[in-house]
Amino acid sequence: MELFNLEKKTALVVGGGSGLGEAMAVGLAGAGATVIVAGRNGVKLMNTVNRIKDNGGAAWSFVMDILNTDSVDTTVELIARRFGRIDILVNSAGTHLKKPTLEVTDDEWAAVIETNLTGTFRVCRAVGKKMVREKCGKIINIASLGSTVALTDAAAYTASKAGVVLLTKNLAVELAPHNIQVNAIAPGVFRTSLNEKVLVGERLERILNNTPMKRLGSTEEIAGTAVYLASKASDFVTGSVLTIDGGFLAWGI
Ligand SMILES: NC(=O)c1ccc[n+]([C@@H]2O[C@H](COP(=O)([O-])OP(=O)(O)OC[C@H]3O[C@@H](n4cnc5c(N)ncnc54)[C@H](OP(=O)(O)O)[C@@H]3O)[C@@H](O)[C@H]2O)c1
Repeated sequence: MELFNLEKKTALVVGGGSGLGEAMAVGLAGAGATVIVAGRNGVKLMNTVNRIKDNGGAAWSFVMDILNTDSVDTTVELIARRFGRIDILVNSAGTHLKKPTLEVTDDEWAAVIETNLTGTFRVCRAVGKKMVREKCGKIINIASLGSTVALTDAAAYTASKAGVVLLTKNLAVELAPHNIQVNAIAPGVFRTSLNEKVLVGERLERILNNTPMKRLGSTEEIAGTAVYLASKASDFVTGSVLTIDGGFLAWGI
C-alpha cells in the first residue's frame, strides 16, 4: 500500500544487530527502505544485513558506539555522505540493570543513563541536524513500559526510559517546523538478549498474569509500528508514544 511504502527512503537503525532493532530493520527493509544498521558488534550487524539481503532487500552496516560523541558524529556524517540523506532514524540501542535501587552504584546508574538516554540524545542530535537540512524526517525512539510504571529493581532503566519519552516530546515540538516527526514506541515484554536472564520463574509468571493477552511479544510484532511511524501514514503524528504490550498497561485491576 502506497501509504506504507518506504521505497527510496534511507533508514538508520541503531541497535539493529539484535532483538527489536533487528526486527525493525527487517520490517523497514521489507517495506522498501534501504537500511543501515549500526551498533558496536560488527558480526551481529552483518547477520542482520545478510538476513535483509536474503529477503531481497538493501542493507549496510556501520560500527558505532553511542557512548562516544565522536563515534556518533563521524558515523552519521559518513552515512549522510554515502547515502545522501537519512530519512528515518530508529534508536533501539539500549542496556538494562536489574538491581535493588539502594544498592546501585554511581557508575552503574551512569552507565544505564549514558546508553539509554544520553546515547539516544546524541544520535537524535547528529541525525536531526541532517534532517533539518533536508526539511523532512522521521525519528523513532524506543521507550518502555518502564517509561510509565515502575518495574521491579530497575530504577536506572525506568528513569532513563521516562527521559526518552520527554526527549521525544521536546524534539517533536522543536522539529515540527522542519517537517520532522518524532515519536516513541513503548514495547511491552519481548524476549531478547537484554532481558532473557531475568525472564524466568516468578517474575515471568507475574508478567504473563498481568498481561491480558497472556503471552510475551514476539520481536517481529514491533515491525509494523516502526513501518507506520516511518511512513507517510503517520505524517500528522508527532510527540506520541505507541505502546505494544498485549494490553499490560491498560489493565488496572
Ligand atoms: N526486550 C524488551 O522486552 C524491551 C522492552 C522495552 C524496551 N526495550 C528496549 O528496546 C531496545 C532494544 O532492546 P532489545 O530488547 O532488542 O535488546 P538487545 O537485543 O540487547 O538490543 C540492544 C542493542 O543495543 C545495542 N547497543 C547497546 N549499547 C550500545 C552502544 N553503546 N552503542 C551502540 N549500540 C549499542 C546492542 O548492540 P551492540 O552490542 O552491537 O552494541 C544491541 O544490538 C532497548 O532500548 C530496550 O531498552 C526492550
